[in-house]
Amino acid sequence: MQYPFTRKRRLRASAALRNLSQEHRLTINDLIWPVFVLDGFNRSEPIESMPGVSRLSVDLLLDKLIPLHEKGLNAIAIFPVVHAEYKSDDAAEAWNPEGLVQKSIKTIKSALPNLCVISDVALDPYTSHGQDGIINEHGDILNDVTIKALIMQALSHAKAGADVVAPSDMMDGRIGAIREALENKKHHNTGILAYSAKYASVFYGPFRDAVGSAGNLGQSSKDTYQMNPANALEAIDEIAMDLDEGADLVMVKPGMPYLDIIKTAKDHFNVPICAYQVSGEYAMLQSAIENGFLDEQKAVMEALLCFKRAGTDAILTYYADRVTEWLNP
Ligand code: PBG
Repeated sequence: MQYPFTRKRRLRASAALRNLSQEHRLTINDLIWPVFVLDGFNRSEPIESMPGVSRLSVDLLLDKLIPLHEKGLNAIAIFPVVHAEYKSDDAAEAWNPEGLVQKSIKTIKSALPNLCVISDVALDPYTSHGQDGIINEHGDILNDVTIKALIMQALSHAKAGADVVAPSDMMDGRIGAIREALENKKHHNTGILAYSAKYASVFYGPFRDAVGSAGNLGQSSKDTYQMNPANALEAIDEIAMDLDEGADLVMVKPGMPYLDIIKTAKDHFNVPICAYQVSGEYAMLQSAIENGFLDEQKAVMEALLCFKRAGTDAILTYYADRVTEWLNP
């Protein structure tokens, strides 16, 4: 139908019609809040490159989580800030049953049993060199040796009570190996969120400051295991492999510069697609917001809605605490 019989502006003429004809929505159910946990009690440290985000000890984290969960926040993803003395070449602290993550999972699940706790499976907070895997004398990241460590780490999280383990390491074959180990230990209902299409991105910089792995990594890169930002078809292959190996949910990461990948993933696969609005995206938005160049609530809500439009089911965002308040004041 041609103008004037069709006027696209008719449905935009009032808030009521705009609401009625809206295709996509962001709800509290879509949010996963990534949190940085510190050892100890009553500790809070602001993160310089992520203004508005702090590393917290579990007691202070719980003080925030209890009201947020009451307002509908469903899920968190835990990242530990590991003290230098616990870092080593073999990352053994990663599967310490009394480690920071394992203790935090137990504390949070016992206070908030209905909150979905997702734990990160990767060795970078625990290695002295800051890589996600175990390396040899030449600095090569050893795939199959690393998988053995990841299995122990994932099992220790499941045992502590994690609802979902989330391998973010990008080793080949780790999803199948972790699934098999979980089944063997009767953790049938522990889910796996696979960071399937995880790109070697500069946008992880502030996160590495937050967990304190930036200094360990130095000038080294993660290019031999994380994906090349130039590739799209490869993401389909990565996701297909992880699903074949038993992933329950899959992730695309980063988010905003990779919305095309999210869309492709959604079109190809019938599983929930998660996306991560990573630390660098947060830092970009927040810098503009703090300078007064962007309105915080409007900018954040638009960015997150666009994740939904692209086909994202659940979004990891450092704004999840604020968005929960905005959606349910
Ligand atoms: C570590 C991990 C990273 C992020 C999540 N898990 C960093 C990396 O791969 O170097 C990044 C998250 C963010 O930037 O917000 N395996």
